[in-house]
Amino acid sequence: MLPEVYIENLSQYVGKEVKIYGWVYNKRSSGKIRFVLVRDGTGILQCVMAKGETPDEVFDKYDVLTQETSLIVSGIVNEDKRAPGGYELHIKDIQVIHIAQDYPITPKEHGIDFLMDHRHLWLRSRRPHAVLKIRHRLVKAIRDFFDSRGFVLIDAPILTPASCEGTTTLFETDYFDLGKAYLSQSGQLYVEAAAMAFGKVYCFGPTFRAEKSKTRRHLTEFWMVEPEVAFYELEEIMNLAEEFVEYIVARVLETSKREFEVLERNTEPLEKIIRPFPRISYNDAVEILKKNGINFQWGNDFGNTDETVISQQFEKPVIVHRYPAAVKAFYMKRDPQDETYALSFDMLAPEGYGEIIGGSQREDDYETLLKRIKEHNLPIDAFDWYLDLRKYGSVPHSGFGLGVERTLAWICGLDHVRETIPFPRMIYRIKP
Ligand code: 4AD
Ligand code: MG
Repeated sequence: MLPEVYIENLSQYVGKEVKIYGWVYNKRSSGKIRFVLVRDGTGILQCVMAKGETPDEVFDKYDVLTQETSLIVSGIVNEDKRAPGGYELHIKDIQVIHIAQDYPITPKEHGIDFLMDHRHLWLRSRRPHAVLKIRHRLVKAIRDFFDSRGFVLIDAPILTPASCEGTTTLFETDYFDLGKAYLSQSGQLYVEAAAMAFGKVYCFGPTFRAEKSKTRRHLTEFWMVEPEVAFYELEEIMNLAEEFVEYIVARVLETSKREFEVLERNTEPLEKIIRPFPRISYNDAVEILKKNGINFQWGNDFGNTDETVISQQFEKPVIVHRYPAAVKAFYMKRDPQDETYALSFDMLAPEGYGEIIGGSQREDDYETLLKRIKEHNLPIDAFDWYLDLRKYGSVPHSGFGLGVERTLAWICGLDHVRETIPFPRMIYRIKP
């Protein structure tokens, strides 16, 4: 026998007898009335029994129902505005499946380290459950956006022969007789090849950075979606990024009302995420920092605090474009107006969240790209295939990468990315 009715669909079963398969979330008793909160993965349901009405042998099972005990509970569905979720089950029978002894996460407050050590169990609690439900919807919205606009999904490899985003954050592993392999920092180089074959493509998968940074924004394993489009220049790719972020925020707002309530996330700031977004140059951003009394050295990349200050000036995500080429990746095309700058952009999320997107127009000239690879001391033989793309029908092309966890932290209003991925990987955490 398998569950046929789930808590999230109870509105269709008012007055009917149903069986709910799940786990005890909590319970309380007030004299002759006893409440058992049962969760089934789709919601939490208040189940009631009353002395005299419920058969005695069922009523007495209350005592063995410890937190997280698994069970099948049957009874009649009632609409009840006072019950959490709006429905209540009048218990007729309880079948205990497995008694949970001393479940470590109790309704009292636990520290974040304790909860992270018990992440495999913590997933059952309201808050992480809500965050990961929103993550699921966000991922669906991301896919729908690209799929409905004619983009082809191209999966990029995870084991790669060279770096894409700088050699200081590479995870290295031995690769048989072929020397070293590295965990992918970005699928970009591969979607560039695919864009020349399919026009509009995207990859979506885990990426890895051996980040030594212990900040609220850094994971060592995170998910990135990376569209790449042939014939797009910087302007067009910025437009795409804007349309994309507007779309995914609207979709999540529409599908996740209940979860935002659980998180007590005020969604008003998210309702303002409507195009056009402000666009400023790197130099404008430096001016903002100066005006806010930040001691910033022109030519550096922005740090977390800088990004927070810049993004706090705007109610919408802000696009910062044309960073100094010297602090950016080897593959970015220089601005023909002034070669000091790269045709790059970052999108910084509001409410102080900072960078969620990094992107650029790519260098499409063979000789220039070869020069850049040499300047960055990258191994040319690992990039011969990438250079080929500039030998056979090279065209202008552009793309970007959006980090799912940083985007979700902003959307959910969380103060750390570790809660946005089911099992976070950080410098000091590889378990569970
Ligand atoms: O700015 P990044 O490094 O850009 C790239 O990797 C490009 N190759 C993408 C492209 O053009 N196809 O990373 C893109 C995004 C960041 O804006 C951020 O949201 C996320 O990936 N990100 C991280 N998220 C969590 N932890 C980390 N350590 C991250 N590093 C980058
Ligand atoms: Mg970046």
